[in-house]
Amino acid sequence: MNDTVSEVKKRIDIVDFIGSFISLKRSGRNFKAICPFHQEKTPSFVVSPERQIWHCFGSCSEGGDIIKFLMKWENLTFYEALKELADKAGIKIKSTPFEDRVWKKKERIIKLNTLTADYFSYVLQDSKYGNKAVDYLKSRNINLKIAKKFNLGYAPNSWDSLYNFLSKKKFEKEELFEAGLIVSGKSQSYYDRFRGRIIFPISDARGNIIAFSGRLLDDEAKEAKYINSPETPVYHKRESLYGINLAKDKIRKENNVYIVEGEFDVISMYQKGFENSVAIKGSAFTRDQLMYLKRYTNTLTLALDADASGEEAMKRALEDAENLEFEVKIAIIDFAKDPDEAIKKDFEAFKKALKNSISIYDFIISYAQKRHPDTDAFSKKKIADIVIPFIEK
Ligand code: CTP
Ligand code: MN
Repeated sequence: MNDTVSEVKKRIDIVDFIGSFISLKRSGRNFKAICPFHQEKTPSFVVSPERQIWHCFGSCSEGGDIIKFLMKWENLTFYEALKELADKAGIKIKSTPFEDRVWKKKERIIKLNTLTADYFSYVLQDSKYGNKAVDYLKSRNINLKIAKKFNLGYAPNSWDSLYNFLSKKKFEKEELFEAGLIVSGKSQSYYDRFRGRIIFPISDARGNIIAFSGRLLDDEAKEAKYINSPETPVYHKRESLYGINLAKDKIRKENNVYIVEGEFDVISMYQKGFENSVAIKGSAFTRDQLMYLKRYTNTLTLALDADASGEEAMKRALEDAENLEFEVKIAIIDFAKDPDEAIKKDFEAFKKALKNSISIYDFIISYAQKRHPDTDAFSKKKIADIVIPFIEK
């Protein structure tokens, strides 16, 4: 193990490596940057090429080698980070003197999820059971190429088809349960969580499949339109963003990310060339998600649903976004309920809405005016009550 560590450090230069994540400026014998691990305005993050270490002299006062950097950056265990660096350097880790159980478990669930995604996409594309789902995607203007890109699938309307498939591949039911793929029913029986649904695999930024979401084909059905994997050792909803694996390069290139609510919004936008889109999946935009995005961009453009809960989600996210020094813009899509519908309804108007995104402050003012449309003094005071706290910050 120690051999691997020193070999990795010999082959990967710390300045090149960290410089591929954040921009480093030469400062005497060292390199400096704004610390990516805490909020600051003046650079106190220092990388030493001679000693091949980094250190933050600011409030987080953390430091270490490339392994430690990757652990913090990607939120990995020591072994995960080492393995990733060894792969990058072309070094094979032969035997592991100690076993990293957390890592092993995570890797096993990701393998299970990958097999599951393959199975569902096979059902969608290559079996007759997927025909209705293919028609459904067509009806939503999703072409097959994009469906493949997003690894979409179909979970057949069966209680145990996935369960049987994975059992044959020698996975135990405890593992399937822990991965959230089966749920327990009465008298110790288990059945497939996703049945009769279009499947959207959810990946982390590195492309590991960490969870699934499934949508019914029939809007009239009594069940929930969407269901999702539960929290698992690899899936933490508050940290994940649907589409980040396919969006991240474009986000960095454009220094902008479009934040949308749902899977179909991401996919429709991607199909139309707005590949830098990610979805918060209909819930609050969290600080963890913002911190993650900060690695790629300083600008956020919110293209959330034009309903009250969308507006609430925007307001709540703002405080954290301000603290993290994002420039926040809002795309006002008032002629459709979400980006997916807007693209279908009037693509030119949609493009215009993105192009004419307004700053958050203008948005707050118009939000307040909408809530209190009258022009009397009392309404004006109410408007001020909403607007002033934001401007103060
Ligand atoms: N969502 C969810 N669980 C639910 C409802 C919604 O996870 N029970 C998430 C999904 O990611 C969904 C997003 O919230 O894409 C937005 O939900 P909604 O506004 O209901 O989606 P629609 O735009 O109506 O759905 P669709 O585009 O699929 O018709
Ligand atoms: Mn929609």
